[in-house]
Amino acid sequence: MTAVEPRATVEITVDGVSVDARPGEMLIAACERAGTYIPRFCYHPRMSPVGMCRMCLVEVDTGRGFALQPSCMVPVTEGMKVSTESEASKKAQDGVLEFLLINHPLDCPVCDKGGECPLQDQTMAYGPGETRFVEEKRHFPKPIAISETVFLDRERCILCDRCTRFADEVAGDALIHFMGRGNHTEVNTFTDEPFASYFSGNTVQICPVGALTAAPYRFKARPWDLTETLSTAWVDSVGSRVAVQASRNRVLRVLGADADAVNWGWLSDKERFGFEALNSDERLAAPIIRDAVGGDSREFRQAGWGEALEAVTAALAGASPERVAVLGGARLTNEAQYMWAKLAKGVVGTDNVDAQLGDGLDPQLVLGLTRATIDDACRPGGTVLLIGPDPKEELGTLYLRLRHAIVNDGVTLIEVTPHATGLSHLAAHSLRPRPGTTAGLVAELVAEAAAPGASGAEGSDPPRPELAAAAQSLAEAGDGVVVVLGRASLAEPASVINAAALELSRLPSARFLPALRRGNVMGALEAGLAPGLVPGRVLLDDVGDDSPLAQTWPRLPASAGLDAAGVLRAAARGDVDVLVLVGADPLNDFADRDLAYRGLRGASLVVAVDLFVNDSASLAARVVLAAAGPTECDGTFTNLEGRVSVMSRKVTPPGTARADWMIAADLSERLEPGSTSGLETSEAIRAELALVSEVHSSIASDALEADPMEGVLLPLPGTAADAEMVHAAADEDPGEGEFLLIAARTMYDDGVMLRHCPSSRGLAPAATARINPADAGGAGLEAGAAVRVVSDFGHIEATLTFDDGVPAGSLRVDWLAPGAPANALIAEGTEVTLVRVETR
Ligand code: SF4
Ligand code: SF4
Ligand code: FES
Repeated sequence: MTAVEPRATVEITVDGVSVDARPGEMLIAACERAGTYIPRFCYHPRMSPVGMCRMCLVEVDTGRGFALQPSCMVPVTEGMKVSTESEASKKAQDGVLEFLLINHPLDCPVCDKGGECPLQDQTMAYGPGETRFVEEKRHFPKPIAISETVFLDRERCILCDRCTRFADEVAGDALIHFMGRGNHTEVNTFTDEPFASYFSGNTVQICPVGALTAAPYRFKARPWDLTETLSTAWVDSVGSRVAVQASRNRVLRVLGADADAVNWGWLSDKERFGFEALNSDERLAAPIIRDAVGGDSREFRQAGWGEALEAVTAALAGASPERVAVLGGARLTNEAQYMWAKLAKGVVGTDNVDAQLGDGLDPQLVLGLTRATIDDACRPGGTVLLIGPDPKEELGTLYLRLRHAIVNDGVTLIEVTPHATGLSHLAAHSLRPRPGTTAGLVAELVAEAAAPGASGAEGSDPPRPELAAAAQSLAEAGDGVVVVLGRASLAEPASVINAAALELSRLPSARFLPALRRGNVMGALEAGLAPGLVPGRVLLDDVGDDSPLAQTWPRLPASAGLDAAGVLRAAARGDVDVLVLVGADPLNDFADRDLAYRGLRGASLVVAVDLFVNDSASLAARVVLAAAGPTECDGTFTNLEGRVSVMSRKVTPPGTARADWMIAADLSERLEPGSTSGLETSEAIRAELALVSEVHSSIASDALEADPMEGVLLPLPGTAADAEMVHAAADEDPGEGEFLLIAARTMYDDGVMLRHCPSSRGLAPAATARINPADAGGAGLEAGAAVRVVSDFGHIEATLTFDDGVPAGSLRVDWLAPGAPANALIAEGTEVTLVRVETR
């Protein structure tokens, strides 16, 4: 018998016109693609249909005549006949609106949704001209704050179930619910459970009325005052697509844009509300200078660009290249990163350049690993191996995509993380390596997957059936394994994860999605902002004399330079004359606070290029150059997949602040006249980048304009890195009263940008020291106790908490809790950090 091919399309008739629909799609979606819009409130294409509002009623031929059906609940079938404009359909829609408006307040003049309100619009288009309801409407106190950022006005709610579905289905934070019955049904949160979700802002965006509003936007503007541009979120490396909306030269709102390959319209609240920092009065509006650091009379004074740039130029010109270093750059656009790489490596001639502040992975390894996209990771039936940070805390929209794939599309998650993550309850297998042993555990996992029994997982003492089961899942995954790879704990050196990656690259089918955290860090690595690399994933040592790069740049560094740790060590020894921090704050971000302090104080001249005076600049910078923010300059962004998308200028920077690429270009030109000729726009810079880097050649074309929503994938590396990296697993047993330290990042922390977001700055959790309840008894520790966490290198103060997600013998602290920086406990190069807990 010949197999029957499933049909690619289903033919239906909409208002007498024949239309091709996709098998299984809902009638409302098929009609919309064919150009017939059916009004709706509860339907959302990214969530399951519920048929709550009945606004989408249309007449469908049931075989026994036409009958009203909710088009969001009816899948298309071959030969289906639909009438969206029949009298019965119109009367049904009119009736639904009349009922919805019975209890709806007449708030439009003072309602934030006015002007972009589906209820307003659909009432005008499909509803009754006037009300017949003369009785008293239902009233509630309004609005009520249901979280730090979201307000709820229950009178306006039409009970569409979008916010509740999103919180439950998409975010997995079922914190907003329907309560009551019948006419008393309302949407609300429980008093002791605020809507404390990292994704709460999405409910505001999808609420079809003004029932949910967000603090940063309330009463700021009307939709007709706003202009909008499509751009890319900058706070993490997912590169979610966003619509940036502004009025009178001020960004007032950021909305998620529906990029099918990336964020599906969702955003984390940090991506959504992070723009508030850009409007802060404390933004640098001009360069500032001080004549000395420390002691008294060392205040910054405002300076002109000429004076500030001249001071930096003189210092750079007077220093030998190997005594100059540049740290940071992940905040920048690709174009600015290229210009800073060109300035540092091609004009100054130093290779002491590192965009990762010791919290990333080996750049050569990352750029060489066989790469996967987010869609690859979320492919139905696939397998994801998470060896990295908690996506919920660090890469919000990637978490939403992975969660959807696991819950709805049968993706198997295997976690190898030292503590529980936001996905642990969905994971098929969770392995918890002790800090320092990740690579060893991964090696066993790979060996067991290749040859069951090889690692002795079952026969070991004690047996480890979980390892054997995880290995079996891995073996059964075939060619579908995507490794989400990053740093789960910054108390564990990068070499551990680098070694684990090399073990995994031996799995023939494994592809990697780098879970590096900083915004445009992939762009920075691709642009050469890493030691030993030049733009286009090329080793410095491999640049030929006749290569386009060598022909374009005035010079090249003599040899490979230092990474961030090396730079800070050299600076602490007094071997760095000029240290440039490009959007970098090593004091808070480098995993050794003492070394960062000594390095910053040891450099002869520290120059910062930033939006604010961060803690490192405050400690050590003599010159701070005011940079434009991400909504204030044009350029492109490369996300963790290698997807390049546009960042768009929407407003002008404050005062005389300048785009980062302009600052680099000005310094280059002063040091090497002619080195930047023709590079006067981001397009021109992109063209030069495409000339010197084969990897970037695809983004110089019209491709970005051809699909501005999805962007362009750079050619992904297709072969695993063959670099050998030796890592001796550190398997240290904590002594009596000691714990192995885990230091993990959280969504909100005490970073400089969040400090300047009025509605988010209070969300950074207070310092906690989390241990497994099993560790409490012997040590006599009590939950809620004020404790001091002490290592050989420093201490922080915190509140003790019991947490089942932390394995026995380990202690977890948050990376940058207010007043308790975890890097005070860590010394660079230490394999594992042992800590003790002292009660205060
Ligand atoms: Fe008016 Fe819409 Fe606001 Fe209701 S939700 S008050 S219809 S703008
Ligand atoms: Fe729908 Fe908005 Fe009410 Fe939630 S608050 S049920 S999204 S109308
Ligand atoms: Fe179909 Fe609400 S949109 S019932």
